[in-house]
Amino acid sequence: MRTSTYGIVALLAFAGTAFAAEGNNAGWERPAENQIANLPSLQRGARNFMAYCSGCHSLKFVRYSRLAEDLKISDELRDQLLVKPGAKFTDYIVSSMPEKDATEWFGKAPPDLSLTARSRSPDWIFNFLTTFYADPASRQTGVNNLQLPGTAMPHVLSSLQGVPRLKAVSHESAAAGADRAGAEPAGESGHSNSPFEPGAQGSLTPEQYDNFVRDTVNFLQYASDPTQLERQSLGVWVVLFLLMFTGIAFLLKKEYWKDVR
Ligand code: HEC
Repeated sequence: MRTSTYGIVALLAFAGTAFAAEGNNAGWERPAENQIANLPSLQRGARNFMAYCSGCHSLKFVRYSRLAEDLKISDELRDQLLVKPGAKFTDYIVSSMPEKDATEWFGKAPPDLSLTARSRSPDWIFNFLTTFYADPASRQTGVNNLQLPGTAMPHVLSSLQGVPRLKAVSHESAAAGADRAGAEPAGESGHSNSPFEPGAQGSLTPEQYDNFVRDTVNFLQYASDPTQLERQSLGVWVVLFLLMFTGIAFLLKKEYWKDVR
C-alpha cells in the first residue's frame, strides 16, 4: 500500500516536471507527421525541393535517375521537371551555386541536405521551415527562426507562407512589450499553441503551408536513406510469408498429431 502511495507521488512529481519543461519552450515545436510510404507526398516534395531549395542546397548522394525510379516518376517528367538545365539524369543532384559566392552572400555556405533528416530529424526540419518570423534586427535577411536562432538562411518560402510576426508574450527574447499578453486570439497561424501572429500574407493558408513543408520534409527523409522505401515494401512480403508459413506449420502439426490421439 505504502509503496503504491510513493509510486503515485513520484508519478505526480514526474508529471509536474514534464509539464514545466513543456511550458518552457512555449509549446511551439510540432511533429512533422510526414508519412514515408505516401508516394504522392514524396513526389510533391521532390518538386518542392527542386523548385525552392536546389538553387542553394545539393543532395550530393542522390541521383536524378534513382530518385525518379523510386518515386515512380516517368522518364519524361523526370527530364522536364527534375533534372536541372545542363545536368544529365544520371548525375547527382548538386547545386549550381559556387560555395565561395554562397559564403560571401549568406555568411555561410548552404549545407548539403542529403543526410540532414538523419542528423537533425524530420521534425527538426519541419519546425525550422515553419518558424521563420520577421525580425528587423536581422539585417541580412530580415527574418529570424525559432529552431535555428540567428540563421543565415533567408525565408525562401515567404511568398507561400507570408512572414509571421512573433507574439510578444510567447517568446522570452521578444518579451519587451508584453502588456498585450493574453489579448491575442489563438488560431490564424494554424495551431492553437502558435507563438506567431499573422504578418505579411503569403499565397497559401497556414494549413496548406504546413502540408507543403510536410511533403518537402518527407522527401528529405526519403533522400537521407533511399533504401527505406524498398525495405518497407519488402517488409510487407516478409510478414505475408510468415503468416503463410504459420498456416502451413499449423496444418502440419494437425497432420502429425492426428494419429497420436
Ligand atoms: C537562398 C539560398 C537558400 C535556399 C533557396 C534554401 N536555403 Fe536552406 N539554408 C541556406 C543557408 C545559407 C543555410 C545555413 C543556415 C545556417 O546555418 O545558419 C541553410 C540551412 C538549411 C537547413 C539547416 C541545415 C542544418 O543542418 O543546419 C535546412 C534544413 C535547410 N536549409 C533546408 C532548406 C529547404 C528545405 C529549402 C527549400 C524549401 C531551402 N533550405 C532553401 C540557404 C538556402
